[in-house]
Amino acid sequence: MTATTAVNRYQIDQLTTVPSPALVVFHDLVEHNIQVMLDIAGSADRLRPHCKTHKMPAVTRMQLEKGIARHKCATFAEAEMLAEAGVTDIFLGYNLVGPNVERAVAFLNRYPKVLFSVTGDDASSIEQLGSAMNDAGCLIGVLLDIDPGRQRTGIPVGQKARELYALIDRTSGLRTDGLHLYDGHQRQQDFGERFKAVDAEWQKVAAFRDELVEAGHPVPRIVCGGTPTFPVYAKIDDPAIELSPGTCVFHDSGYGNAFPDMDRFIPAAVVLTRVISRPTANRVTFDVGTKAIASDPPMGQRAFFPEIPDGVQVIHNEEHLVIETDDADRWSPSDATIAIPSHVCPTVALHDTAVVVTEGKVVDHWPVTARTRCIHI
Ligand SMILES: Cc1ncc(COP(=O)(O)O)c(C=O)c1O
Repeated sequence: MTATTAVNRYQIDQLTTVPSPALVVFHDLVEHNIQVMLDIAGSADRLRPHCKTHKMPAVTRMQLEKGIARHKCATFAEAEMLAEAGVTDIFLGYNLVGPNVERAVAFLNRYPKVLFSVTGDDASSIEQLGSAMNDAGCLIGVLLDIDPGRQRTGIPVGQKARELYALIDRTSGLRTDGLHLYDGHQRQQDFGERFKAVDAEWQKVAAFRDELVEAGHPVPRIVCGGTPTFPVYAKIDDPAIELSPGTCVFHDSGYGNAFPDMDRFIPAAVVLTRVISRPTANRVTFDVGTKAIASDPPMGQRAFFPEIPDGVQVIHNEEHLVIETDDADRWSPSDATIAIPSHVCPTVALHDTAVVVTEGKVVDHWPVTARTRCIHI
């Protein structure tokens, strides 16, 4: 995306009515990204998008309207947001420990119509979950978390994984729901190389699945991948595969720069910011601090400013971002511009509400409902 394209794309007509910093979602671009996601997947049935990026009932409903019935999340607040928005098949792709085991019971009691599943990768946690479900007369799906080399959670395919899968299958209170495979470490810039690396891991998992089935265990689904890798799994013809991209519903400049093949997605959620000071001849200070835009990307790369493409981000504090530029003279206090987050998911989680824009007009305000840790349970 060129800077000029971006400047034209993110017009907001009634700028004086929108306080900054503000998360601004461009409705048409979200629709566009959902459609690209569907085109890549081939059909809505193959998708189980992760809601951690948007955390919003409004976006969930847009996906439901497109026939995307299965959804993934990482927290109970997200699971509740999905359930309240009308999703009836929810996979919380996270291992439950501590009080979260009882929260799963509470969730199942509160949302009895939801088919609910979680991950597991540890024998004692799986047994505790089964026993809590049994005591409560509930049933929860468990997907064995397989580690495809990321070394964050899960275990590699092999004997221990076989034993754990058998444990899930014989533990009452648990439904044997398949495998979970998240490979966020596959960041090859070239799609062909990424394909090769992801497919090599997939072949091991597919063989492992075949062994499990041969041993008499059901493996109804394998939930795979994120934004950079779901196009790979989408090309594999296996009915068990469910694709779980998150970021691409909003997209961001981080993925845009890292993965040229992602160029069909367009950043749909940006931060509106204003100049609050011109402290030196070459510095412009904006009100988009670390409490308005995610600060997990490296300093200097936390956002792309289409109107200051060559600016250097030199200070980023809680409420301030200072940019050095030879064009500083162009900017005066109260001038507004937009910043495209490098990492949109944690950026969204910093805001209570998104300003929604269609064809330049502010048409709505959407709550970021699941940014909290606890809704009801
Ligand atoms: C377990 C899991 N699944 C899916 C995703 C979605 O990945 P992406 O944001 O690259 O689309 C993530 C992202 O962090 C994840 O942790």
